[in-house]
Amino acid sequence: MTQPGQEPRLRASRTVERLVAGTETSDGAGVRLTRVLTQPLQRRLDPFLMLDAFGSDDPDEYIAGFPDHPHRGFETITYMINGRMQHRDSAGHEGVLENGDVQWMTAGRGIIHSEIPQQEHGLMEGFQLWLNLAAKDKSCPPWYGDLRRTELPRLTTEHGVEVIVIAGSCRGIDALVQRERTDPLYLDIHLPAGSSFSQPLPPENNAFVYTYRGSVSIGDTAVPIQRMGILANDPAADGVTITAHEDAHVLLIAGRPLGEPIVQYGPFVMNSEDEIRQTLQEYRDGRLGQQ
Ligand code: FE2
Repeated sequence: MTQPGQEPRLRASRTVERLVAGTETSDGAGVRLTRVLTQPLQRRLDPFLMLDAFGSDDPDEYIAGFPDHPHRGFETITYMINGRMQHRDSAGHEGVLENGDVQWMTAGRGIIHSEIPQQEHGLMEGFQLWLNLAAKDKSCPPWYGDLRRTELPRLTTEHGVEVIVIAGSCRGIDALVQRERTDPLYLDIHLPAGSSFSQPLPPENNAFVYTYRGSVSIGDTAVPIQRMGILANDPAADGVTITAHEDAHVLLIAGRPLGEPIVQYGPFVMNSEDEIRQTLQEYRDGRLGQQ
């Protein structure tokens, strides 16, 4: 394990602007999930388009998975906390994602893929985050990386807080994937009761937390389990301080906004209605994901 840098001293922490519970829904072939970051929040949380939380020990709620479906114009980051899921796509990539692994997929100009559970019982729990691509990058070739739990950079702070660095960097430790334009930060932070953790954040970057075990506080606001806390973009705040009064696990996600038009039609996210029409035509003609 790499030795992490010192605890950063923040001038002031961001506060929680709003708590969000998300919306119960189902997707794919009937997978039950909570859409935490929904379409009405895409502008506020630019460059992030969606966050789904899935967690069930009832196979009926996940077994059918997500059979072949297309994507274009953004990246998906799937973080499997518990369970096994197989991925296959039209670019010839194939892999199994399990307990603590991350799959980073850049759909770019188009991909068709399936995500199918490889388990018939037990808990399936994880997250899928959608990260937008800048207009100039939406036609890039598809890319895919399986980031194994054992190779994800992680650190433990002097307060016993464990941090898994999925994107960006924390205390001088860089994630395996970096994106220059959107500067994404994606940390999974495990706080023991009574500990706190601070992370510098550029004030212009949009940021949120999602608590998935226990509960945390940011300033005077509690962010309980299964809630997203949108962090205010306060020019005077240079980061965020998260405090746990009980053992807690929380995702901290932040990125630099693109400030471009967002036009989503299901699994396609482009900049104009025209581009969506063209994408649908290519998909119907069987040309999407073919090159
Ligand atoms: Fe997908």
